[in-house]
Amino acid sequence: MNSFHTQGVVILDFGSQYTQLIARRVREQNVFSEILSSETAFNDILNRKPAALILSGGPSSVFGHEAPEFDEAILDADFPILGICYGLQLLAHHQGGLVESTGHGEYGFATISVDDDSSLFSDMAKESRVWMSHMDRVSRIPDGWHTLAHSSNGVVAAMANEDQSRVATQFHPEVAHTEEGKTILRNFLFKVANCAPSWTTGNFIDEQIELIRKQVGDGKVLVGVSGGVDSTIVAALLHKAIGDRSTAVLIDHGLLRKNEAQDCVLALKTGLGVNINMFDESDIFLSKLEGVIDPEKKRKIIGNQFIYSFHRIANEMGEMQFLAQGTLYPDVIESGVSKGKTAHVIKSHHNVGGLPEDMDFELVEPLRELFKDEVRNVGRELGLPETLIERHPFPGPGLAVRIIGEITRDRIKILQEADQIYMDILHEDELYNEIWQAFAVLIPVQTVGVMGDQRTYENLLGIRAVTSTDGMTADWFRMPADTLTKISNKIVNSVRGINRVVYDITSKPPGTIEWE
Ligand code: XMP
Repeated sequence: MNSFHTQGVVILDFGSQYTQLIARRVREQNVFSEILSSETAFNDILNRKPAALILSGGPSSVFGHEAPEFDEAILDADFPILGICYGLQLLAHHQGGLVESTGHGEYGFATISVDDDSSLFSDMAKESRVWMSHMDRVSRIPDGWHTLAHSSNGVVAAMANEDQSRVATQFHPEVAHTEEGKTILRNFLFKVANCAPSWTTGNFIDEQIELIRKQVGDGKVLVGVSGGVDSTIVAALLHKAIGDRSTAVLIDHGLLRKNEAQDCVLALKTGLGVNINMFDESDIFLSKLEGVIDPEKKRKIIGNQFIYSFHRIANEMGEMQFLAQGTLYPDVIESGVSKGKTAHVIKSHHNVGGLPEDMDFELVEPLRELFKDEVRNVGRELGLPETLIERHPFPGPGLAVRIIGEITRDRIKILQEADQIYMDILHEDELYNEIWQAFAVLIPVQTVGVMGDQRTYENLLGIRAVTSTDGMTADWFRMPADTLTKISNKIVNSVRGINRVVYDITSKPPGTIEWE
């Protein structure tokens, strides 16, 4: 483990909706952070040699039966602890303070006044707005502790023990609504915990190159590339680490955006000299999809065919011992921290570019510690073009789930043309990077229109743009009317087969992002 890991922060997750945000805010200060389940044994935490511990918020009451378990040995740790919201109440409860349920919590903005500006609240305004989201409150702080700040509602907004090695806030410093949140976290990291700001993109790349070389030895690595940001960056990183002993493979199922496969190959091959091969498998994918309307059937067919194609191609490549893929930290957290939770399956996500389960490869996952924005910084440092780095997420089954009803080559072509115009205008109007995901959907409904003096009876096109932070929830993007007009005019005037455009204003929930 490198020193920039061992001087990092462990965040114990007590179930807050903001836990990932805490991790990101810490990393923005160039300090490594790792999220662990609240139940993690103290020894496992010690093994990571953290500089500090953060206890997250959470929905429970510290005195309720449903309070999450944790190893009480952490309370005696010889490194600093910051408790946030539930974390504050946990510290208060276990250090002899009194936490009570008030029956009516505080949700939203509150104003706090600083009582002690010697550490956590140094270099900031005496009064500022913070974001509260709690039901219970501390009505008596533990002996030997003092308040660092109080809220105008009379709530203990922050407190600390005598030597300030235990500090805690009732509000959420990680949330953007907390005006001085960044300063407070920075104070904790650098004044209270003496962390080193060594978690940088450059250090990360150097470390990964070393780790990849060590893991792979003289072996050969196959990199599954989908055209998206993550796998493209993995291919670039592998190339930098082991050169031509890595081979990237892009399977074109015929359902990518216009020029998407070519752009990706161009950026990797011509731009960076990566050894990449594209395989046009569209005939076989499209023949299997003929006449299929059901979205889940489409996903299954594409997922299965992807595995067949990948098997065949991998065999043709000869002996490859490793498979590199773009697993990110949120996927790792999902499968570790919240293991055991079951969620209702809304759509079965087949990740084209993912690992065929029965293949005998050892995995290389160089991005498994990173959040998406960090991955993008790695891409920049490796020299990939901005257009590729900022590309919106794209579903594995591609346009198959954006052509409602039957998929034909003609309909793919119509959608690709319209979608390209839509994307170009978003770039032109400098809106693309404000949007999480934007795309067009071909709807199998014909409507009447008039062009010149001619009656038309053509397809309907839906366009969608959403803002989101993780794709789990989303809101529709308030697209300026001028941009909508431009998009609609250009599509109807230049794409044969579309004579009407509608804008989708459904949020998620109750809608989903994709239409199928
Ligand atoms: P939904 O439509 O479920 O989408 O709100 C959430 C996010 O997941 C993407 N998505 C998929 N990604 N395979 C994927 O790899 C799929 O089958 C799939 N379906 C939806 C979607 O584009 C959005 O980013």
